[in-house]
Amino acid sequence: MRLILLGPPGVGKGTQARRLADHFAIPHVATGDMLRVNIRDKTALGMKAQKIMAQGKLVSDDVILAMVEARLQESDAMNGFILDGIPRTVPQGVGLAAILERLGIQLNAIVAIAIQQDIVITRLAARRTCTHCGAVYNLVNHPPRKMGVCDACDSTELIQREDDLPETIRKRLDVYNEQTHPLLAYYRPTGLLKEVSGDGTVDEVFNGILAVLLARSTKT
Ligand code: AP5
Repeated sequence: MRLILLGPPGVGKGTQARRLADHFAIPHVATGDMLRVNIRDKTALGMKAQKIMAQGKLVSDDVILAMVEARLQESDAMNGFILDGIPRTVPQGVGLAAILERLGIQLNAIVAIAIQQDIVITRLAARRTCTHCGAVYNLVNHPPRKMGVCDACDSTELIQREDDLPETIRKRLDVYNEQTHPLLAYYRPTGLLKEVSGDGTVDEVFNGILAVLLARSTKT
């Protein structure tokens, strides 16, 4: 299975991508996570990306595309992958198509998750992320078993992401509407685009995604 997950910040792409990656036993390739690892490790890329991300803006297309092209050639991605966070702009969509063609890879589907803006603002304000292992929680509907302690790795570093502050969330939503949403029109003619509601429990959204993927595979 080779999938792209699209959708606004906070719609649940990361949450669903992790579920899908487990379900299909393929890697979750998330550009935001890759950038945050670079920030944590203080690499040259991380130092450059940190300021841009904290402002809710986008890292340059060429940096992102080079990072993803290298990642897709790792052995664990040979049998499939879930792309989360890329493409983010129509030029990234064009660049990604060129990468996939060079690597001889065909996508199975592009799943776009949609939701009302006020719901994502509420979700992002309550998100907490483990800086150690990247596990994601929500203070309202998915808190850690012990407050402040990561269920997965016992780290006590559960933080609010710098870009989850209210003003930055609004900026990221503006960037999404201006630069990422046009990708739906870019992908619609491919016939691969599947639109799913993100307004439901994590299980409901997951089942909605599996349903559209299954509907596609029975047709082909
Ligand atoms: P990135 O990390 O990709 O952030 P994003 O796209 O803004 O998405 P989020 O991680 O905020 O949300 P999500 O949809 O994954 O939601 P989640 O599952 O966590 O990018 C961050 C930054 O990196 C960008 O702003 C940019 O600067 C840079 N960047 C990354 N990729 C780039 C690229 N290609 N080009 C240029 N720059 C790039 O869920 C959110 C919360 O809701 C969680 O608390 C979760 O528990 C909860 N939740 C999830 N599902 C549900 C549900 N069904 N019901 C209730 N709560 C739910």
